[in-house]
Amino acid sequence: MSIGQGTVTVLMIGDLVGRPGRALFSSLIGKLRAQYAPDCVVVNGENAAQNGRGITAPTVEFLLKAGADVITSGNHIFGQKGFTAAFAASDRLLRPLNFPSECPGKGHVIVTTPSGVTLAIVNAQGRVFMHEQLACPFKGMESLLTFLRTQTKLIFLDFHAETTSEKQGMSYFLDGKITAQVGTHTHVPTADERILPNGTAYITDLGCCSALNSMLGMNIQSVLSRMITQLPSKFAVEENGPHVLRGVCIKADTATGKAISIERISIIETNLVINQDTAGKE
Ligand SMILES: [Fe+2]
Ligand SMILES: [Fe+2]
Repeated sequence: MSIGQGTVTVLMIGDLVGRPGRALFSSLIGKLRAQYAPDCVVVNGENAAQNGRGITAPTVEFLLKAGADVITSGNHIFGQKGFTAAFAASDRLLRPLNFPSECPGKGHVIVTTPSGVTLAIVNAQGRVFMHEQLACPFKGMESLLTFLRTQTKLIFLDFHAETTSEKQGMSYFLDGKITAQVGTHTHVPTADERILPNGTAYITDLGCCSALNSMLGMNIQSVLSRMITQLPSKFAVEENGPHVLRGVCIKADTATGKAISIERISIIETNLVINQDTAGKE
């Protein structure tokens, strides 16, 4: 429910990494709902399946049942064989809009909240130091916005990109045209949340939801070994706690589509239970 007439509240949660990420979300969403009273909850699920790669239909269904309204993603979205079934499971699962049209899914969804507010959630991916072959995300956003703005002024973007510069560039390109842009992909949160001059809420990266003492959610030794020896090493999701959930809460004016506030969320959980009840099946 909204905090008042004319206001909408959206939670945007960073990349859920494997079972710990899913368990963090399902275990803490009740507390987040009590504290922030969100009208819509968006989570990034590109690492939600086993080994922290991709997403499957059971994972999509688990996250939606647990309380996600929309699942965004990124470069790892097709990391599991079951990705076609995952997209068939729900139109609330997004992939970056600038992937080729042959890819399943789409880059935006329009949702109506229980309080009757229409929002657009959008997912795009950067190209610098990652998929350079993708279509231009700037042109893609420009084109999509001509349609979305006929539907709603409340537009929330998860821009999945590697570099701070490309994320900042997109934010100034879109300032005043969308309600909020959050970043994902680096798995490391930034402390630069603010409202830009023309009313768009912004944070360069949300950070991920994972084991706290890990490397981007992965076991430290498995990553360090490859860094030091240059020999192949299988990365494994770190499951040992403590764990951390990261995201933001954004409030916006429904009449203007401008952001009112953006608050960073970081919750450290020392007693996270990870089992089939809290993390679902893969
Ligand atoms: Fe990620
Ligand atoms: Fe990513």
